[in-house]
Amino acid sequence: MNKKVHVGIVGATGAVGATLLTILKERRFPIASLRCIASARSQGKRIMFDGREIEVEDLASASFKGIDIAFFSAGAERSKVYAPKAAGEGAVVIDNSSAFRMDPAVPLVVPEVNPHAAYAHKGIIANPNCSTIQMVVALKPLYDAAGIVRIVVSSYQSVSGAGAKAVYQLEQEIKGLAAHFHEGAWQIDTDIEELLGKIYEANKSETVFPYPICSNLIPHIGSFQGEDDYTQEELKMVYETKKIMEDDSIQVSATCVRVPVFWAHSETVNIQTRKPLAADRARAILAQAPGVELVDTPKDRVYPLPLFAGGRDPVYVGRIRRDPSIQNGLNLWVVADNLRKGAALNAIQIAELLLKR
Ligand code: A2P
Repeated sequence: MNKKVHVGIVGATGAVGATLLTILKERRFPIASLRCIASARSQGKRIMFDGREIEVEDLASASFKGIDIAFFSAGAERSKVYAPKAAGEGAVVIDNSSAFRMDPAVPLVVPEVNPHAAYAHKGIIANPNCSTIQMVVALKPLYDAAGIVRIVVSSYQSVSGAGAKAVYQLEQEIKGLAAHFHEGAWQIDTDIEELLGKIYEANKSETVFPYPICSNLIPHIGSFQGEDDYTQEELKMVYETKKIMEDDSIQVSATCVRVPVFWAHSETVNIQTRKPLAADRARAILAQAPGVELVDTPKDRVYPLPLFAGGRDPVYVGRIRRDPSIQNGLNLWVVADNLRKGAALNAIQIAELLLKR
C-alpha cells in the first residue's frame, strides 16, 4: 500500500464519521489529504485529525473533484443525491447508508465474506447494515463447512446505531432517572413508567426513539413494511444476508430490538445447517475465522459481552451449542461494535481492498 489517496468523509461530524476518523488514524490509512463534509449546520466547524485541524464543508456546495475515496455516512437521502454526484466527479464512494445496498449494480461487501464483489464496482460500493455485517462474519465459515438452510436471529441493538442524538437521549434519561432516585424511593412511591415518561417529554425535541429507551426495550427499528409488519431493519437482515452470501436459498427470520446499551450490538443466532455440524467443530472453525474472536468457555463465565466489545474490532462469538429441537441446529451469541465492524471499520476494510489492487 504505497499509494496515498485523497479521502473525503461525508457525515464527518456524526457517530460513524467520528469512528471513521479514529480508525483511519489507527490503521495508518495512507492519506494524501482529508476532507470533512457534513450539513450546513456544521460548516466551518473544525475537526482534529492527526494533529491537524480540518474545516468542515457543507455537502450542498462541496465538490468531490480530486477525492479518490469518499466515505458516506450522512443518511440514505443524502447518499441518494450526492453519492452519484461524487462518483461522477471521480471518487469511489463507500456508502454506509441503505440507499444502494439492494441495487443489483452496486456491490454489497463484507471483506471477510465476499471481497471479490468489491472489484466489480462502478463508482459506488455499499457497506451493509451493522446487524447483518456481524452476523455474516460469524456465519460464513460455518456456511462454507456445512451450508446453511435457515437463520433465525434476534438482535439487541445499542443506541449508538441510531446516531449521536440517540446516545444523548439515553444519557439524558439515565441522568434524569438518577436525579429522582434516593435510596429505596423507586420501591416505595415512584412510578418508573410515569417518571421516564416525564423525562422523555421534557427532552422530546432531542429524542430519537418513539419511547423512553432507558430501562426499556423497543422492538421497532426502522419503519414497518408490508402486510407482515416486519421492520426495515429486519428486512435488511433478510435481503442483505442473501446478497452478501450470494445464496438466495438461505431463509432468514429476524427480530430487531433496540436496547439501552451504548455501544455494540448483540445477537442470538439460530441456524440450521445443510450437513451436520457439531458444536465443537463449529468452535474449531470459528477459532480460525478471519475477523472473529471465539469467546466461549461459559462455565468460566466467559462469553461475549457488549460492554467489552465496544471500541474493539473483532466479531465476538460464543455460547455455541447444539439446538436439539431441530435437525442440524446450532445456537450462537454474536457481539460486535456496531460503529466499528458494523460501520466504519468495514468501510475502511473495503477501501483497503481497493488499495491492494
Ligand atoms: P451535521 O452534524 O452537520 O448535522 P449521526 O448518525 O451521528 O446522527 O450523524 C449524521 C451525520 O450526517 C452528521 O455528520 C450530520 O451532519 C450529517 N448530516 C445530516 N443531515 C445532513 C445534510 N442534510 N447534509 C449533510 N450532512 C448531513
